[in-house]
Amino acid sequence: MQVVEKIDEMRRLRHTLSEPVGFVPTMGYLHEGHLSLVRGARAENPSVVASIFVNPTQFGPREDLDKYPRDIERDLALLQKEKTDLVFMPSAAEIYPPHFDSWVEVNGVTERLEGASRPGHFKGVTTVVAKLFNIVRPTRAYFGQKDAQQAAVIRKMVSDLNMDLKIVILPTVREPDGLTMSSRNTYLNPEERRAAVVLSRALTLAQQLFSQGKRDSEVIRQQMISLIEKEPLADTEYVSVADAETLAELGRINSPALVSLAVKIGKTRLIDNFVLCKDKKLTP
Ligand code: PAJ
Repeated sequence: MQVVEKIDEMRRLRHTLSEPVGFVPTMGYLHEGHLSLVRGARAENPSVVASIFVNPTQFGPREDLDKYPRDIERDLALLQKEKTDLVFMPSAAEIYPPHFDSWVEVNGVTERLEGASRPGHFKGVTTVVAKLFNIVRPTRAYFGQKDAQQAAVIRKMVSDLNMDLKIVILPTVREPDGLTMSSRNTYLNPEERRAAVVLSRALTLAQQLFSQGKRDSEVIRQQMISLIEKEPLADTEYVSVADAETLAELGRINSPALVSLAVKIGKTRLIDNFVLCKDKKLTP
């Protein structure tokens, strides 16, 4: 496995990789969610590139850029175990040199949910992902359903800007109790960790109501909110039932519906989502 920090070096080694090339962009502090993407890429491509870059432009001024967890040695060992061919881990100055002044912005699908709660977040994500695509030039790039809106935004960017690669979205990987794996789970103390299961419990409730035939999204939302409110450490930011593709809020559910939520557990903001479907279960 080769590890490169410079764009020039990445470009030079890119030419030595056999086609097609699968790419997994990450911010590091890897867990089974990230590794499932690497395995997905490995299964479909003879060459796999991963990137580790904590992208400063997608963090708001009051967000956790400085304390975002980092453990490069461990990340590289995990990527090596998954037979990653090449790891690109640039510095912030390499990606954003002085006088950097070009941005990629997707409208519409970025305006609600995470986009509304975190102004400027998706502009940072689409800009860095577009740059990484230009540097790595992958055949396929792999993203997690865990960040459902991010996946929709990247699909839209690739389609609108005619980027020549395929976007693959893979399922959310969860802890045995249902909590979605996330680098931010390390912020939770043991009491908060127990409380955090309320997100997946609320999604399970939504799925149960849907299976019982409930199609009024307001009824589903309200029941989810009252379940979350019973957890004293939890503070609901949003609960949404939206069209899975456009993310427009639904009154009645008649198309594939994405149920998504953002909840603060203590000081830690967690997100989760589930696409409602007959006979589907959140955890096996
Ligand atoms: P990061 O949060 O490190 O996530 C990297 C990729 O792993 C994303 O596609 C994310 O959806 C996926 N992922 C995270 N947790 C997952 C889980 N439990 N199950 C399945 N997939 C999971 O998302 C980012 O970084 C950044 O925004 C990035 C795209 C790298 C741009 O900076």
